[in-house]
Amino acid sequence: MLDFLRGEGIKDSLISDIISFRNYYKLEPIYEYRIPVPKYNYYGKEVWEQAITALLCGENLLLVGSKATGKNVLAENLAAVFGRPKWDISFHVNTDSTSLIGTDTFENGQVVFREGPIYQCAKWGGFGVLDEINMAKNDAVAVLHATLDYRRIIDVPGYDKITIDEASRFIGTMNYGYAGTRELNEALTSRFMVINMPNITTENLKKLLLKEFPNLKEEYVEQFAGLFKDLQLKSENSEISTKSVDLRGLLASIHLMNKGLTGDKALSMGITNKSFDDFERTLVEDVIRLRIPDNLERSEIFKD
Ligand SMILES: Nc1ncnc2c1ncn2[C@@H]1O[C@H](COP(=O)(O)OP(=O)(O)O)[C@@H](O)[C@H]1O
Ligand SMILES: [Mg+2]
Repeated sequence: MLDFLRGEGIKDSLISDIISFRNYYKLEPIYEYRIPVPKYNYYGKEVWEQAITALLCGENLLLVGSKATGKNVLAENLAAVFGRPKWDISFHVNTDSTSLIGTDTFENGQVVFREGPIYQCAKWGGFGVLDEINMAKNDAVAVLHATLDYRRIIDVPGYDKITIDEASRFIGTMNYGYAGTRELNEALTSRFMVINMPNITTENLKKLLLKEFPNLKEEYVEQFAGLFKDLQLKSENSEISTKSVDLRGLLASIHLMNKGLTGDKALSMGITNKSFDDFERTLVEDVIRLRIPDNLERSEIFKD
């Protein structure tokens, strides 16, 4: 991972600070398995440098952006780079203080405390990914306020005080820009350093495509990257919604093409059909057709 960062041109001083961090903060061997081995690398030098600097300064991070801007990929990459175990904590209607901190349960006739993910993460110096944190309900918000407090002590009524390990960091993610997303309350936001996650650059998108599909022909690296940018532009100009601007869907479509599905069929599943509006779907198909001819076969897209 550190070699990857060097390759991306991340400042040497930051990399040596990361190495010091890793040497300084030890880890219980039983939690080594939680250090992620990322499947994807995050591309974006500026964001990397901002995130690393904030974490080195002991800050917690909030990654804000539209879907598929790499928020979870970055959070996982950061835990890997800092060599810390990762806990994923997602927020939904049923997430309450018990599911976050833990609860007393009966085991063999005895009362034992079953530790929740926030508890474990805080205790073992983990990186806690607070996924879709803006969806947190009141009971969970109270726990978050305590967890993210500068005193680094979680003090929630009904529980023992928990001291947060010095190596622990919390990384929140939140989407915005489509129906159903909520704003984060001000007091919670103020406990984070916030990064607005940019859309991936064309250059980095090409890198990502080649890393994922080393057998992709040069011409189609260009066309797929161009297609994604075309869709983004149409959406920015409000000609289409963001539904079809879906990098996850594009990558999945290329996977299907690699398995033998024609280009148009694969892209209809991964991109076009994400919209449920006939008129919008036609617009999206038009954008696709300009770059990807109908019935495009696997052999024309891939080298092998
Ligand atoms: N800047 C980026 N660098 C690397 N991958 C990216 C980037 N932006 C988006 N992706 C890709 O988009 C997909 C979704 O990433 P994810 O982190 O799950 O998005 P989010 O959590 O923002 O919705 C992944 O396949 C990821 O590799
Ligand atoms: Mg996500």
